[in-house]
Amino acid sequence: MQTLNQVKYLRAAINADKERGKRVALVPTMGHLHEGHLQLVRRAHEIAEIVVVSIFVNPMQFGASEDLDSYPRTLLDDQEKLEAENVHFLFTPSDKEMYPNGIENHTKVSIENLSNMLCGIHRPVHFEGVCTVVTKLFNLVQPDAAVFGEKDFQQLTIIKRLASDLCMPIDIIGVPTARAHDGLALSSRNTYLSSVDRARAPMLYETLKDIRDQILAGNRQYETLCEEAKQKLNSSGFDVDYFDIRDQNDLSLLANDAENSSVSILAAGTLGSTRLLDNIYLSL
Ligand code: PAJ
Repeated sequence: MQTLNQVKYLRAAINADKERGKRVALVPTMGHLHEGHLQLVRRAHEIAEIVVVSIFVNPMQFGASEDLDSYPRTLLDDQEKLEAENVHFLFTPSDKEMYPNGIENHTKVSIENLSNMLCGIHRPVHFEGVCTVVTKLFNLVQPDAAVFGEKDFQQLTIIKRLASDLCMPIDIIGVPTARAHDGLALSSRNTYLSSVDRARAPMLYETLKDIRDQILAGNRQYETLCEEAKQKLNSSGFDVDYFDIRDQNDLSLLANDAENSSVSILAAGTLGSTRLLDNIYLSL
């Protein structure tokens, strides 16, 4: 694996492979890699001959009061994991390399209607930062495919729309959420959880599964189901940001008795000081 931190070297290295007709897949990450990230890398190997991973804790997608400074940075450990997964190129740019003129004056990419809901309400600059950095990474690497996790379902939906709206010839591939033995979705931020909160955290997925099962059993009182789930989580120590049942494709909110066949149940909340998010989707 070659680790490169400058755009010009990354481009030269990848171009050599592209000229030989090799298919390239990109896996963008912010590092502190866990099994969920590695599953994306394995999927990338299935669809391309050359796998590029980026690790960049993107300051543009963090709000002023968020955890940019404390976000876990574990490059040596991450490099070892990626070597073991036979990754070809690891791109680890500095802030200066990505934003030479600073963030404020940088061109921004945003998709308003999918961003100003769910996580976007609680993290107003987040998706603009994600869209901007992902667009840059796509332009830098020019991959044939890019792989993202379904754990961040809104992010995946937004990136699919971004690629389609901006005519990017890139296949956007989603990979199912990797979970711990007790169902908690793996996340780099899980390291922030205290042992008491770690023991409570699986309740988020438990509640999503419970609501899914009620829908599968024929309950279409979506608003009531969400309200009950919120109350249950809030009374168990969560501070719920949202618990919504939405259309899986455009993320529009489903009212009671809506007749949709592809449904996503999405939830996010804070436990202690850690923000957790998870989702389940189902076909009716
Ligand atoms: P990060 O949180 O590091 O996640 C990188 C990729 O790993 C994302 O596509 C995310 O959905 C996926 N992922 C995280 N946890 C997962 C899990 N338990 N199972 C499956 N996939 C999982 O998401 C970001 O970084 C950033 O916003 C980024 C897209 C890199 C832009 O900065």
